[in-house]
Amino acid sequence: MSFLSKTLSRVKPSPTIAVTTLAAELRAQGKDIIALGAGEPDFDTPENIREAGKAAIDAGKTRYTAPDGIHELKEAICAKFKRDNGLDYSPAQITVNSGGKQTLYNALMATMNPGDEVIIPAPYWVSYPDMVLLAGGEPVIVETSLQTNFKLTADQLEAAITPNTKWLIFNSPSNPTGAGYSRDELKEITDVLLRHPHVWVMTDDMYEHLAYDDFEFCTPAEVEPQLYERTLTCNGVSKAYAMTGWRIGYAGGPVELIAAMRKIQSQSTSNPCSVSQHAALEALNGTQDFLAPHNEIFVRRRNLVVEKLNAIDGISCPVPEGAFYVYPSIAGLIGKKTPEGVEIDSDETFCTQLLQTHGVAVVFGAAFGLSPNFRVSYATSDDALSEACDRIRAFCETLSA
Ligand SMILES: Cc1ncc(COP(=O)(O)O)c(C=O)c1O
Repeated sequence: MSFLSKTLSRVKPSPTIAVTTLAAELRAQGKDIIALGAGEPDFDTPENIREAGKAAIDAGKTRYTAPDGIHELKEAICAKFKRDNGLDYSPAQITVNSGGKQTLYNALMATMNPGDEVIIPAPYWVSYPDMVLLAGGEPVIVETSLQTNFKLTADQLEAAITPNTKWLIFNSPSNPTGAGYSRDELKEITDVLLRHPHVWVMTDDMYEHLAYDDFEFCTPAEVEPQLYERTLTCNGVSKAYAMTGWRIGYAGGPVELIAAMRKIQSQSTSNPCSVSQHAALEALNGTQDFLAPHNEIFVRRRNLVVEKLNAIDGISCPVPEGAFYVYPSIAGLIGKKTPEGVEIDSDETFCTQLLQTHGVAVVFGAAFGLSPNFRVSYATSDDALSEACDRIRAFCETLSA
């Protein structure tokens, strides 16, 4: 009998972290690798935020804090929800955690009982299903399609709901597709939820500020105020403020749920890093002026990548509304062979061959629950992106029927 927990056998390691690690290993062996696997901005944390972190250290803000966050930060989060989303939360409705990942994990640990179902539209952020499994629940995967730009439809949601459904996990703009739901599209989803009062929505708004062109971000409790009492609005500073390493995520929701999440955190990790909390305070209260220039850079890179990928025979890439990912389909390449005779029978084979023969690391679609696709993270330099797309084209041109 294994010494390890049975629960662990239900879970797999994060494939995105695995691709990033493999690319780093190949690079360490001297190989010329362009890594487009990581889900983090290539910008440094803005200076005012870094300074706030340093000042917190010098001011001795280096001790334990309240387990789910300092009061000033909770107040800043309430102000953020009001300012950006028109949502009224009080500090008792706010939890601050060690990254957005912990926010979602605490919420699932606080609510899952055996047999509880969580609806997860695919493609999904890799951690959702495994976190549900770790918490003892059952992920119910609903596959979207290229035809709806990877967005869940009201009919699909309606069909997936059962008496056991507890949550819908909603993510817009999305990792891995960058797809963002318009207000009308989201209203169709919230209308379905209104008809099923036992279903709650966990909305992961991590990419809220990474929205491009004229796309207007919106979140479920704002679009349908009647859902406020059964919505957990999750967000964090990692992506918009280039603070992935600082580890601060947060959420607003019903007091009882937030208290349950606090209990879990107080018995596991306790408070998120005190210094990071002070840096996050500055991120939310300080200037937001760098967001627009960052987004300009992201739009330029998105356009570059979409254009270059769509010019490749066999690849089809929709233009996403936000985040820093594209999720091209390789349906036109499945069944072809490499010059060495390897058949491209899946997106995983495609990505492995691409990495081995042309040194480009991207993540295969099966990791996100929808194939045959791959995810490109365009949070890297224009030159690296351009070269990577040229290599992808060169690789695809070596494939034959
Ligand atoms: C959709 C989504 N939610 C949550 C997270 C977690 O963010 P954090 O680094 O703050 O834990 C990520 C990170 O990749 C993400 O893409």
